[in-house]
Amino acid sequence: MKQMRRSLIALAASGALAAPLMGHAAGDPEAGKSKYTTCAACHGADGGGQGGAFPKLTGLGEEETAKKLAAYRDGDQEYLKSVGLGGRYGTMAPNASGLSDGDIADLAAYIAEEFGGDATGGDEAAAEPAPAGNGEIAKADVERGQALYSSCAICHGEQGEGGHLMNAPKLKGLPASQVASLLKVYRKGTEMGQYSYAMIPQATHLSDADINNLAAYIATIGEDQAAE
Ligand code: HEC
Ligand code: HEC
Repeated sequence: MKQMRRSLIALAASGALAAPLMGHAAGDPEAGKSKYTTCAACHGADGGGQGGAFPKLTGLGEEETAKKLAAYRDGDQEYLKSVGLGGRYGTMAPNASGLSDGDIADLAAYIAEEFGGDATGGDEAAAEPAPAGNGEIAKADVERGQALYSSCAICHGEQGEGGHLMNAPKLKGLPASQVASLLKVYRKGTEMGQYSYAMIPQATHLSDADINNLAAYIATIGEDQAAE
């Protein structure tokens, strides 16, 4: 609900509500552009996904995007699984829950036109994330990361299972590169979800080395579980 109110405020601020209402189903990329402001917090203004923290929205077709957004809104996890999504359903779904069919059409038109399927681009290659800092993460100090993690466990749980305090999400199973990118986004003070106010102060004091060490440790929690 908060999310919804926030997106309405963002819409009003960006002037989208003053745009003429479209009477038909075809999406209006101009209207989609204003509606995209709330999405940019996670997916980036350029749709690049903030260095692997979030899925890239580049190279997605209009119809495909609309279908995925409707699936998040309607809770169609089966469809999402069939297209390789759903692992972080809980982070994306609240952002789609307030969208009308018209909003979805406009967003899909904008995403496809602005970031999308220009067949000449190297989008295939771009779709494979090459997250920043992989090399440093490989050299990271997992033990140091484990020591640092003790302050995170209060909320995220000893095993990164999530849900201990403040609705903290599950961390177990996230790849190291993604954890590192997410922590850097929080460190900048970017609000990503309803409870970012709880997480941002946890990240502001972390150095790049701390982040890499934490990411490396958290990824090993995932491995332990997968090996069982
Ligand atoms: C709080 C962060 C966040 C916000 C804000 C957000 N998303 Fe997402 N989005 C995600 C995550 C995480 C996923 C992957 C979810 C999963 O695993 O199913 C995702 C997935 C998607 C996908 C599927 C990507 C693919 O690989 O096919 C689309 C499309 C999408 N989001 C569009 C949007 C749009 C449009 C908005 C704004 C209305 C938005 N998102 C707002 C976090 C966010
Ligand atoms: C006070 C409770 C609390 C503490 C302590 C805490 N977190 Fe969080 N964390 C959260 C909450 C709440 C969120 C979701 C924030 C949002 O809605 O954007 C979050 C989100 C995250 C995410 C993003 C997960 C995703 O899938 O989007 C990562 C990564 C993360 N925290 C790592 C850490 C690490 C590493 C530490 C220790 C340095 C830590 N957190 C300490 C509460 C906490």
